[in-house]
Amino acid sequence: MIFHRERLSPAILLFREFHAGCYIRSRNHPDPGPGTVVPERDTPIIVHFVPNSLMQTIIGQDIAVAASLLRKDALVAIPTETVYGLAGNALHEAAVVAIYEAKNRPRFNPLILHVADIADIETYAFVDAVSRQLAQAFMPGPFTLLLRKKEIVPELVTAGSDKVAIRIPAHEVSRELLRRVGFPLAAPSANPFGYVSPTTATHVLQGLNGKIPYILDGGPCQVGVESSIAEVSGDKVILHRAGGISAEMITAVTGLPVVTGIHTATPSTPGQLKSHYATRIPLYKGDVPALMKQFPDKRMAVISFTRSYPVAIGSHLFILSPAGNISEAAQKLFATMRRIDEMDVDLILAEDFPDTGIGKAINDRLNRAQAIHK
Ligand code: TXA
Ligand code: MG
Repeated sequence: MIFHRERLSPAILLFREFHAGCYIRSRNHPDPGPGTVVPERDTPIIVHFVPNSLMQTIIGQDIAVAASLLRKDALVAIPTETVYGLAGNALHEAAVVAIYEAKNRPRFNPLILHVADIADIETYAFVDAVSRQLAQAFMPGPFTLLLRKKEIVPELVTAGSDKVAIRIPAHEVSRELLRRVGFPLAAPSANPFGYVSPTTATHVLQGLNGKIPYILDGGPCQVGVESSIAEVSGDKVILHRAGGISAEMITAVTGLPVVTGIHTATPSTPGQLKSHYATRIPLYKGDVPALMKQFPDKRMAVISFTRSYPVAIGSHLFILSPAGNISEAAQKLFATMRRIDEMDVDLILAEDFPDTGIGKAINDRLNRAQAIHK
């Protein structure tokens, strides 16, 4: 960490930990606590934590460290089974504001509230009978419920809406963290706004290095695409975002038809924003041989499900699941997009994936990553 030191006349030492809250300790305090700077004897100094942009970001596996930072309204990236989340205390405005700022995310785009157990949901939202059925079937898991919020949820979390999105991650590290802190965590995906979501701790570091103090490493995410977002509305269920839980699975549990949310300019669920999850290198999706003909002289990276395509020298082929396992393809999708983005190619071509189950989520993310939406 980088500190400025200045001599001060009063023999009082101020230790200001910018992101981890603020504490003042006298030089004679018996235990300055871990992470504080102990000055030389008789050298009164003031220690300023230098701005956000110079904060040191640490990757670790210590749930106690993560909990202690979150209690001080600092941000911690947390592992979930879908993608890594950028978490802060959902009930404290300072932490929620810091999330929007670290991600550079517009304030009209609300955040998902993460809780440890089904019983916790009723503390923050009104739960109707069908939503309760869905919660029991799919939580914990890659499933988010949109519900009417209770007073306790700050409007900053819901971007002014009277509905709150709630999810229980199926990752033991994050559930244990949630139980320890005892407050809900607001957590969008831990990537700068608009970019591909992170599925490893290293991905988080690449996007948020210097902006957050800690990344809790829980290994690579097993599902690999963000949760399905569903809302019970009268005698149907609206699926706002495709994910690990499909429309068919929702109908099987509720007996209700599922309609899909539509893309709009001012989305009710900004995961619906058309240009999103986008790579820096332009991406085109569709019939790969036809696209190859359209761009004859370009170096390209091709993303396919199982098929092999002949590619020219300087181009690359990424087959996400040679065995044809669509879950494996979903799990590898974002890591592959990020890897390609660091390669020396002119464009990315992606196949249309089978449009069933989690394949719908793959198609949705690739569609929105397309260059034509930029
Ligand atoms: O799998 C996931 O859901 C991951 C992990 C970290 O839990 N989170 C995630 O968060 O994908 P984020 O913020 O990247 O996407 C959440 C989506 C956004 O499109 C947001 O607009 C929508 O959920 N959302 C959140 N609260 C909402 C609300 N009150 N009303 C409508 N949409 C909401
Ligand atoms: Mg996101």
